[in-house]
Amino acid sequence: MNTEYQQYLEDLFNWGKKLKTTIEKSDLSEHEKAHTLEQVDSWMDHIHHLLIDADAGPEQLIDIRAKGEQFLDQLRKSSVPYGKHQLPALPYAYNALEPYISERIMYLHHTKHHQAYVDGLNEAEKALYTNEKGKEPLKHWLREQAFHGSGHYLHSIFWENMTPNSKKKPSGQILKQIEKDFGSWNNFKQLFTRVAESVEGDGWAVLLWSPISQKLAIQSFEKHQLFQIPNTIPLLVLDVWEHAYYLQHENDKASYIENWWNVVNWENVNDRFKQVMK
Ligand SMILES: [Fe+2]
Repeated sequence: MNTEYQQYLEDLFNWGKKLKTTIEKSDLSEHEKAHTLEQVDSWMDHIHHLLIDADAGPEQLIDIRAKGEQFLDQLRKSSVPYGKHQLPALPYAYNALEPYISERIMYLHHTKHHQAYVDGLNEAEKALYTNEKGKEPLKHWLREQAFHGSGHYLHSIFWENMTPNSKKKPSGQILKQIEKDFGSWNNFKQLFTRVAESVEGDGWAVLLWSPISQKLAIQSFEKHQLFQIPNTIPLLVLDVWEHAYYLQHENDKASYIENWWNVVNWENVNDRFKQVMK
């Protein structure tokens, strides 16, 4: 075997040893640790076999490297242990969306409202999946998980769906799909606006991708744990709870929605769409 290949494989093998130490010290559950370590062991066995195989060539090295990159990806996206969710950082400053959404609203919305969902989801998960709290009454914790889990995940999408540098209109694959399914960008915008305005009390307007029908759909999530369609993926979400606009627009929800169109991050929506299409 070429000495460069041999050196490369030895380096990968040593990296595998360090990776195992990182996994052992990680926050993963015991079950997840055991599962991941088993995969890394099998990968290192493969490297060991290549090291003693005189015929090992570049193709096998490409495979083994790809597998190593998968481990890195897995670690980067390591699962959140039950009860350990954290408030994600905003991808811009609190005043970045002005004048369309005020700094005060963004600050309170993110640090108070979203944080409360994170805390509530953590409490529910501890009750349901760990022994840190009494498990009963089960239905109470299931309701808490649905309410706070929906709040946490939808807000996490919502922040990323906005930007101070909005192009104001969609482009790329998502525009093509919007035109295919709704006829035109204007038709989509009108319907989405009407859906957002139609929400009774608290809720969201959501642009969804349905993998089963291979179509976009628009849905309101009233009280955000209700009205949801399983097995669909939210691409664009608009929070129309009063806490999202009342300080700036008082009871004029339509004005808030009209302003919000100026901060939609269409690149993010398009990226989410490209991800789900994979
Ligand atoms: Fe909200």
